[in-house]
Amino acid sequence: MKFFIDTANLEQIKEAQSLGVLDGVTTNPSLVAKEGIEGRENLLKHYVKICNIVDGDVSAEVISTDFEGMIKEAEELAALHSNIVVKVPIIKEGLKAIKYLNDKGIKTNCTLIFSPGQALLAAKAGATYVSPFLGRLDDIASDGVDLIHRIVPIFRFYGYETQVLAASIRSTQHIIQCAEAGADVITSPLDSILGLLKHPLTDLGLEKFLLDYNSTVGKK
Ligand code: E4P
Repeated sequence: MKFFIDTANLEQIKEAQSLGVLDGVTTNPSLVAKEGIEGRENLLKHYVKICNIVDGDVSAEVISTDFEGMIKEAEELAALHSNIVVKVPIIKEGLKAIKYLNDKGIKTNCTLIFSPGQALLAAKAGATYVSPFLGRLDDIASDGVDLIHRIVPIFRFYGYETQVLAASIRSTQHIIQCAEAGADVITSPLDSILGLLKHPLTDLGLEKFLLDYNSTVGKK
């Protein structure tokens, strides 16, 4: 399973990269806004900075909702760096854009997926990734992880190469549940990734090992 970080924050991306297990980055217009980036030119420069930190796919989202606008933006984004994957929403125009971009060899991440039907259409259009939003489904008392359990077997059954990128992850437990469900990729905030390291028995065990070492071998 690949690990992506879901942020546009350069420090967090660097920290995740330093762990040695980072495979890519996802951003969206809200995450970009959080970084206080102003102006299109600065945004494009910011994407390049991200691409220079991580040797892997970096999703950058289009904000147009019409086919022509999406294609224009997608081509501009893809030209920035070979790591860029163009993020396109699952709407009618988006679907057409994914098909067009796939034919042109431009990678896409189909975003705002909330149902197996949406994921199926995106896969048929040739999306590189589909991004089911788990946390937002949980927010409305639906079952986000169940969506991964439903999409993965459909893709496996028909042999789609489209990767299931579990998004809107809100916890460490979500990451484990997505791994169990067979997600190809998870994209997560840094805290939830770091949470995977935590276990009280690890802390207690390490404390005891160090104590025993220092009271014998390491005695001065
Ligand atoms: C997906 O790529 C999105 O950037 C993201 O995971 C959305 O997460 P949220 O629902 O926590 O905003």
